Formats: sequence, structure tokens, C-alpha cells
Amino acid sequence: MKKKKDFSETKNNLKMSWKFIKNNKKKLFFIVFLSFLVSLLSVAIPIFTAKLLLSLSDGLLMELVKVAGFILIIEVSRNIINTSMRHIYDYYVLDTVTEIQMEMFKETLKIRTSEIDKNTSGTFIERINNDTNEIVNVFDVTISSFLDVISNFGVLIAVIFISYPMFFFFVITSFINAFINHKRRNKVFEQQKKYRKMREKKTGLISEVVRGVKDIKLLGAEEGMLDKTKAQLKKVNKEMIIINKTSRVFNFLFWNIRDVFDFLFILFGVYLIRIDLLSISNFVILYTYRGRIENLLDYFNRMADVLKDFNLSATRVFEILDKGFKKEKINGTDIENVKGNIEFKEVSFSYGDGDVLKNVNFEIKPGERVGFVGASGSGKSTIFNLITGLYEVQNGSVLIDGIDVNDISLRSLRKNISLIPQNPYIFNFSIKDNLVLSNKNVGEANMIDACRKAQIYDRIMEFDDKFETEVGEGGVTLSGGEKQRVAIARSLIKNSNIILFDEATSALDNITQNKIQEAIYGLDKDKTILIIAHRLSTVINCDKIVVLDDGKIIDIAPHEILLKRCSKYKELYKFEEKSK
Ligand SMILES: Nc1ncnc2c1ncn2[C@@H]1O[C@H](COP(=O)(O)OP(=O)(O)OP(=O)(O)O)[C@@H](O)[C@H]1O
Ligand SMILES: [Mg+2]
Repeated sequence: MKKKKDFSETKNNLKMSWKFIKNNKKKLFFIVFLSFLVSLLSVAIPIFTAKLLLSLSDGLLMELVKVAGFILIIEVSRNIINTSMRHIYDYYVLDTVTEIQMEMFKETLKIRTSEIDKNTSGTFIERINNDTNEIVNVFDVTISSFLDVISNFGVLIAVIFISYPMFFFFVITSFINAFINHKRRNKVFEQQKKYRKMREKKTGLISEVVRGVKDIKLLGAEEGMLDKTKAQLKKVNKEMIIINKTSRVFNFLFWNIRDVFDFLFILFGVYLIRIDLLSISNFVILYTYRGRIENLLDYFNRMADVLKDFNLSATRVFEILDKGFKKEKINGTDIENVKGNIEFKEVSFSYGDGDVLKNVNFEIKPGERVGFVGASGSGKSTIFNLITGLYEVQNGSVLIDGIDVNDISLRSLRKNISLIPQNPYIFNFSIKDNLVLSNKNVGEANMIDACRKAQIYDRIMEFDDKFETEVGEGGVTLSGGEKQRVAIARSLIKNSNIILFDEATSALDNITQNKIQEAIYGLDKDKTILIIAHRLSTVINCDKIVVLDDGKIIDIAPHEILLKRCSKYKELYKFEEKSK
């Protein structure tokens, strides 16, 4: 049963790999052809060398020089072909790996947010960086000793004619060797699987340490962090040692058995000579053939190892390309010219344990400006996560222009909605490249207009390279407020009809915040705008304000009315007034 599963897994993996490899199949076939030539020339050299020795013993000096010249030509040709083949092989490997990696990036971007939350960044980095190479290398071993295998097979066949008891001897000992290697392979495979999972965690941790360097320094947490890293590295090392130990134990067994078989070969040979089933000269021939039969066996062992490794890596790669991680749905209705009606109907939602939203109901009309307030953790960002389809609605329904978000294609949903998150990510590109990410075709004038509205234009003009200024990974060379303003400009450039601001101006001073606020309120009246804010002053001018408390909506009304009837809102507002 397991064998059948193994086989179909290999078949499936090879089929999936072929999808990528076939795009470069011309190169691959050329490489196979060249390696065939190299092997052929390698076979020719010993023949000429023999000729050389003969000429030497016959004293034919001119002949000797001629043969030596031939050997030189063959050697040089072989080196030229070999070097070119390796060069083409590089192209083949890199092109194919890049193709697989690009597909992996594409598919990683489709994985559901909830699924990404469960994994570490290492899960994806390791698979994209390392496992892809192993897939492509599967052909290397196969190709490189191709002719050797054929000629060694010839040797094995010759043994049948020389002495079939000896042939059986070779077959039986080979089977025993193969069996030991098979056991080793299966054991190491399981250990490798575990090891690679751990290595993912290690890579994830390393990437977190590097990204968190500032916080680690400021917390004075170097020691604690080093301890944690060391513990993880040791865990991974332990797994590697287990793998090596398994291999070593099996190899020890394998080598010793091989030595015993060598001894048995002599005993068996002597026995066959004694009973006149083998001549001494044939025994000498078989003795020299023995090594070639062992090579053949080694080749198949190596092939099986490579295939196992290939299977492990391919499965890990295809988990991303295929169905190993839950993907966002691709189908759905395309929505166009969104008016901006948003409705929550009896929505309850949980990230895993406990409802974060509890029976939430509200409706927002096109063009309205709506504020969301409530204590930290009350579920405000979660509401935005559902509107943008980052997480799937589980209970109840969220409707955009009357269509259930679960039925809308996510591509068109996100094209029509902008979300400026609490911690926007600014990429290590120039400011301009960050700005046009969501809309490549935006004109210069519109880009500048968006930057003005987001109060960042003047600041950009102060940079030496203006829009071409590089901002570092995660936008490190920008201040918190500058990052927020670039993110706002980026969303305005996207020019969608629904815009969600999640604490998007929290890092700004009051004056800049007010200016942006005015710009946001002053946007076209056909844009529906939702604003999450802790500072109530930023939402008091909204058409209505949704007050959340522990995942429940406790009131929805304009500021003045809430002040009169909603004690929770009054409390929040009073507190803010007092602290002014
Ligand atoms: N990805 C997630 N996985 C699991 N739990 C989450 C996740 N995101 C948020 N939560 C939890 O859901 C609850 C609501 O979070 P949410 O981000 O909606 O709060 P919020 O009102 O936006 O708070 P804040 O004002 O602090 O941003 C919190 O208790 C939080 O711990
Ligand atoms: Mg939030």
C-alpha cells in the first residue's frame, strides 16, 4: 500500500516538475546529448591508451607519437564539451528554478491570511530558496553517469556467460546491499522531513531577529534573544546529528557486509574452481569485473537517494503550488463601478478561539463618512479584515452593494476597496515605486495631487532624490508619520470608491492630522469612507459613528446624538477632552 502511494507520489511530483522543466527542454536534451558525447570520449581514451602501450612495447615510435596526439585531441575535445555542457546546465538550472520560484511567489500571495498566520516566514523562505534547487538537480546524477551504467550492465550480462553460479552470487549479494540501503533511505527520509520543518522555524527566527534588531537592542534583550536562538539552532543541529548517525550506522553495516561479500566471493570462486565449474583465468576476469558491478549498484543507490530527496523537496514545493495550504478562492462575481453600500448582517467571527465579533449589524450608504470607535481589541480592525476579504466571513453576511463578499472575486473586491492599515508596509523601493504599486498607470499630476492631500508632497520635495528616494526595508528611513502619509497617498492613487482608514493618522501631530482629515472629508462625495480612530476628534464630523465594545455594536449615531445617549461614547469623549 505504502509502495503504491510512494510511487504515485513520485509520479505526480515528476509530472509537476516536468511542467517547469519542459519549458527548458531543448537545453535539457542538448545537455543529455553532450553528456553522452563526453561519456563516449571517456570510453575511447582507455582504448587509445591500450594502443599506446602496445606501440611502446612494439617499439613503433612514430605510431606512439600519433596515438599520443590522438589522445590529446580527444582529451581536449572532452574538456571543451564538458565545460560547455556545465555552462548550459547552469542556464537550465537557474532558468527552471526561477520559473518555479516565480510560480511559488504567485501562489504564496494567494494563500489565505489565516493560513499565513499559522506558519512562520521560514516556511516559505526555505521552500522557495532551497527546495526548488533540489527539484531541478534530479536530472544531474541521472545524466552524469549514463554511459557508465550501460557499459556496467554489459559487464553484468557478460558474467552470465562466464559463470552463472557467480552471476547468482552477484545478484543475491546486490539484493542484500540494496535492501540495507532501502532501509536507510526510508529512515533518513522521515528524519529529513522533520529536520526541514525545524529548519523552517530556524530561518523564521533568524529573519525575526534581524527585523527586530532595534527592539532587541532597546529592550536590552540581546542575551535572552541569543539564548532563544541558540536553543533553536541546537534543536536543528540535534536533528542533523540524528540523520548523520543513522546514515553512518547503515553505511558501517553496508561497508562491512561488502567486505564480507568480497571474502565470500573468493571462497565461492575457489570452490567453483575446485569443482571445475570455473577456470582460473575467468576467475581473474570476474575479480576485475566485481568493481564495475559494485559501481552499478552504487549508481542505483545514488539514484534512489536523489529520487527520495527530490520527492521530499517536490512535495514541499508543490504544497505551496497545489493544495497544501488553503488558498483564497479565485472565482466569484466581478464587481464594477462600486457604489459603496456596505452592510453587515448578523456577523459573528472568530480567529480560532472565542468570538471576536458578536452578531454585528450595520449599514453604510454610498458616500457616507463613518467612524468606528471602541477600546483596543474590541474588533474594529476585524471588521475591516472582513470587508476586504482578508479573512472569510464565517457566520452571517457582509454585503457590498448587496452582493455577499464571499461571492465576489477577491481581485475585483480589492480593486474597489483601499485599506490603509494600522502598520502599513513600505517596501525597499523608491518612494515613487511605492506610490505606484497599486496603479502603475497613474499620471504624474494625480500622483502629486494624492501626495498633497496626504500632506507628504512638501516633505518628499525636501529629499535629495525627491520621488526617487530609496526608503530602506519596511521604510526604515522614514519617520512613523511619513510612512503613514506615504501609505495614505498610495491608497489615494489607487482611487477606489471605498476607502478604509485604520488608525491611518495615529502617528501624526494634530495640525497635520487635521489637514489630512480635511482632505479625506473633501474627497469626492461618491467615495464611501470608513475611519477607525482612537482620537475621537478625527471622527466627530462623520455622518455616523459606530461604537464597539467587546465585539458588539452598542450604538450607531452621529457625534451629537451619541454624546447624549451613549454612556460609553460619552466616557471616551470626556476622557479625551480632559486630557487636552
Ligand atoms: N490574526 C489574528 N489571529 C488571532 N487573533 C487575532 C488576530 N487579529 C486580531 N486578533 C484578536 O481579535 C481581537 C480583536 O482584534 P482587532 O484587531 O479587531 O481589535 P481592534 O479593535 O482593531 O484593536 P486596536 O484598537 O488595538 O487596533 C483581539 O482580541 C485580538 O487579539
Ligand atoms: Mg486595530
